[in-house]
Amino acid sequence: MGKIISFINQKGGVGKTTMAFNSAFALAQKGKKVLTIDLDPQANLTLLFEARNTYNLHHLLVNSIKELKMIHVPAMLSEILHYSKGNAVVDLIPGGQELSGFDLTVASINAPRQLVLKKFLEINDLKNRYDYIIIDCPPTLGLLVINALCASDGVIIPFKADDFSAKGLDHFYQVLEDIADMGIVAAPEVVLHVPNLVDLRRKQENDDLTKIIEKVDNAVGEGKVFSPFLNKAGLVKSLSGRKSVFEFKTNEFLDLREKFMGIADKIEEWANVRQ
Ligand SMILES: Nc1ncnc2c1ncn2[C@@H]1O[C@H](COP(=O)(O)OP(=O)(O)O)[C@@H](O)[C@H]1O
Ligand SMILES: [Mg+2]
Repeated sequence: MGKIISFINQKGGVGKTTMAFNSAFALAQKGKKVLTIDLDPQANLTLLFEARNTYNLHHLLVNSIKELKMIHVPAMLSEILHYSKGNAVVDLIPGGQELSGFDLTVASINAPRQLVLKKFLEINDLKNRYDYIIIDCPPTLGLLVINALCASDGVIIPFKADDFSAKGLDHFYQVLEDIADMGIVAAPEVVLHVPNLVDLRRKQENDDLTKIIEKVDNAVGEGKVFSPFLNKAGLVKSLSGRKSVFEFKTNEFLDLREKFMGIADKIEEWANVRQ
C-alpha cells in the first residue's frame, strides 16, 4: 500500500509547494511511483506542472459526493490526471481556484465533511496505484487541510525559523490531537519538520531554531527536524523554469539535489518502519 504525505503549514511562503514538488521528484528518482495532489486554490503546484485542465480536484471531489448530484460535472479522473513528461514519473491531480468554495459546497451534506478527500482516494484505489501520494496544502487549517490530515499517513512541515512561532507549532500539534480525539481516523504521524529559508548568520534565527528543535524533540521524539535549507538562488531559478532541481545536472545544483534526496531517504525510512 502506498503512503500519503501532506506538506503542511498554516503559513504561506514557507516552502510547502517547493518542497512537495522537489521531494516528489526525489522519490521518483529512487524509482517510486508518485502522485501529487494540489489542494491549494492558488494552484501553484499545478502551475509548476504547467497543467491546464478545465476541471480539477474540486470537481472530482464534488462528483464523489452522491448528495451533490445536482452540481456534478462531466469530469473524470482519467481525463484530469496530468502525467509527467520525461523518465521520472510524477503525476498530478491539478488544483484550481474553485477549491476556495469547497467549505461552502459541502456545508449541507450529511456525509462526514472532513473525510471527502479520503473517500475519494479510496474510491479510486489511488493508494494501491502509487507508492507515494504527496499533497500540497493551502496555508490554512481550514476544512480542506483537515481533509488532507484525515487522509494522510504522515505530514512534513516546512517552516521558517523566524516566524513559525512556538505557538503555531503547539496549535498544529493540537489539531493532530483533535483529529485523534474524533476517533474516526488515526491522526497522521510527523515524518519531518524542514527549516527553510534559514539565515544562519543571524543569531536570533539560530536561537529560534534551537528552541524549535527542542520543542519538536519533546513533542514527537528526536531526529524529526531536517538540516536547514538556506536561501538558495538555484531553487528560485529552477522553479521559475518550472523544473525540479533534478533536471539540472550542474554542480551548482548538487547540494540541492542531495538535500531533496535526503528528504526522500527520510520518507522511505519512515514508510519502511510503518509497513
Ligand atoms: N530555500 C529557498 N531559497 C530560496 N527561495 C525559496 C526557498 N524556498 C522557497 N523559496 C521561494 O519562496 C517562495 C515561497 O515558497 P512556496 O514553496 O511557494 O511556499 P508555500 O507553498 O509554503 O506558500 C517561492 O517563491 C519560492 O521560490
Ligand atoms: Mg504553496
